[in-house]
Amino acid sequence: MSYFEQIDPLKVPSHVAVIMDGNGRWAKSHGKERIFGHFNGVESVRATLKAAVKSGVKYLTLYAFSTENWNRPKEEVEALMNLLVHTITGEIDELDKNEVRLHAIGDIDSLPESCKTELHAAMERTSGNNKVNLILALSYSSRWEINQAVKRILAEGLKPEEISDHLISSYLCTAAFPDPELLIRTSGEKRISNFLLWQIAYSELYFTETHWPDFNEEEFYKAICDYQTRERRFGKTSEQIHTGMGINEKTT
Ligand code: IPE
Ligand code: IPE
Ligand code: MG
Repeated sequence: MSYFEQIDPLKVPSHVAVIMDGNGRWAKSHGKERIFGHFNGVESVRATLKAAVKSGVKYLTLYAFSTENWNRPKEEVEALMNLLVHTITGEIDELDKNEVRLHAIGDIDSLPESCKTELHAAMERTSGNNKVNLILALSYSSRWEINQAVKRILAEGLKPEEISDHLISSYLCTAAFPDPELLIRTSGEKRISNFLLWQIAYSELYFTETHWPDFNEEEFYKAICDYQTRERRFGKTSEQIHTGMGINEKTT
C-alpha cells in the first residue's frame, strides 16, 4: 500500500512547516555548483504543494531563506533572489488556477525591489483563494520575528497584565495561521535553525535524510503517516488521552 493510501483523512495536520535543506550537498554529489541544487529544489516545492493539497493540509510553510542566509557568498544570495522572482513569475498562473493563496513571513522589506514587487503582486492576486495557504518564509528568523513583536508591544504601551500567549502570537508574522502540528526537515540535519521557535512549542518533528531536491509527494505522505503514529499528549498522561479525561480529573 502506498503512503498516500495509508493516510487517515481524519488525522491530517492542518499546518505543515518544512525546513527545505540539502540543496548544496545534493548539487555537490552530482558534481555541480550549489545553485544547481536550488534550481532543482523548485520541483520539490511543486510536489510538496501538490501533496499538501491532496492530503488535505490547509497551511504549508516553507523556509526558503533565513536571516542568516544573507551571510552566504554574494553570488549565491543573488542567484537565490533571482530564482525567487523567476519562480513566482513562472508559477503564479498555476498557483492562482489551483486556488492557492500565497503569503510571506519575514523581513520582506529587506528583499531586493524586484522580489518585493513580484511577491506583493502574487499575494494580492491570490488573496481571494482559499484551497490552501502557501506561506514562504523569506529573510525570516524566529529571533528577528520575536524582536519585532516585542518592539511593537512596547511601542503600543501594552501593560504587563495584558501579555499572554495569545497576545504574543498575535504580534508574530504567523498571527493569521494556526501553529504547525508537524515540522519536517530534510537532509539529515537535526536542528531548528531559528525557524518558528514559538510556534513549534508542541509540533511533532520529522527528520529525513533525503536532500530537498529529492523530496517528493511520496516523501511528504510518508511524513504524514509517521505523524499519525505519534501520541500528542500536551503534558497529559497517555491514560488521559485515551479516556478523553480533562485537566485535573481524577484517574481512579
Ligand atoms: C537549503 O539548502 C536552501 C537554503 C538554505 C536557501 P542549502 O543551500 O542549505 O544546502 P546545504 O545544506 O548546504 O546542502
Ligand atoms: C535553514 O537552512 C534555512 C533554510 C532552509 C532556508 P540552513 O542550511 O541555512 O541551516 P544551517 O545553517 O545549516 O543550520
Ligand atoms: Mg543547509
